[in-house]
Amino acid sequence: MSSRIYNCIAGISAKIEENKDFLTELDREIGDADHGVNMARGFHAVTEKLPQDSDDIGAALKKTGMTLLSKVGGASGPLYGTAYMEAAKIAAGKNEITAEEFGEMLAAAIAGIQKRGKAVRGEKTMLDALMPAYDAYMAAIGEGKDMAAGLDAAVEAAKEGIEFTKTIRATKGRASYLGDRSIGHQDPGATSATLTLETIRDFIRS
Ligand SMILES: Nc1ncnc2c1ncn2[C@@H]1O[C@H](COP(=O)(O)OP(=O)(O)O)[C@@H](O)[C@H]1O
Ligand SMILES: [Mg+2]
Repeated sequence: MSSRIYNCIAGISAKIEENKDFLTELDREIGDADHGVNMARGFHAVTEKLPQDSDDIGAALKKTGMTLLSKVGGASGPLYGTAYMEAAKIAAGKNEITAEEFGEMLAAAIAGIQKRGKAVRGEKTMLDALMPAYDAYMAAIGEGKDMAAGLDAAVEAAKEGIEFTKTIRATKGRASYLGDRSIGHQDPGATSATLTLETIRDFIRS
């Protein structure tokens, strides 16, 4: 039987594959039409490389990050790769994650993306989904809610973050070349980040 962490990451891979064309179309509008293709290629490699029977969460996330880093081209490969590798450090040697630890993993992932990509909130990137999601998650956990309920709040905030990206101009990444013409389009990376959180939420609930 395959481990929970394998199944969770395989679930993210399946979600990305399902949304490959959608993500690529979003990137066609404000980028170079490769985000879905890039991410699907990367996660396909991840599912081939991950051991199915190991329940070491840190090791699985580290391998996921390293594979994304090497297989996903463009800006998002190194950014997602770093996010998974930073989250892996918090999960090192663990085969279970508490609600608090998940919050720390999300914080570490965001810090990694920011260190690598030098973006802040409001630049029309994946951070505009992930940062509000983190805030909502921590607020829910602070109120005593469990991980699944925290993730419900995170997903809602991430979806609002996607809507927010439609209203702003891109100032980082390829979409920034469009200037004001990037307004009105939702950010592909904010969308893939939200799909990821949604998959984790559904997995935790299953
Ligand atoms: N500096 C950055 N920080 C955070 N996210 C970024 C940055 N630059 C780009 N992105 C994200 O990467 C996404 C584009 O990914 P992708 O299409 O795979 O790479 P590329 O733009 O190189 O073709 C954007 O939608 C945005 O969310
Ligand atoms: Mg692109």
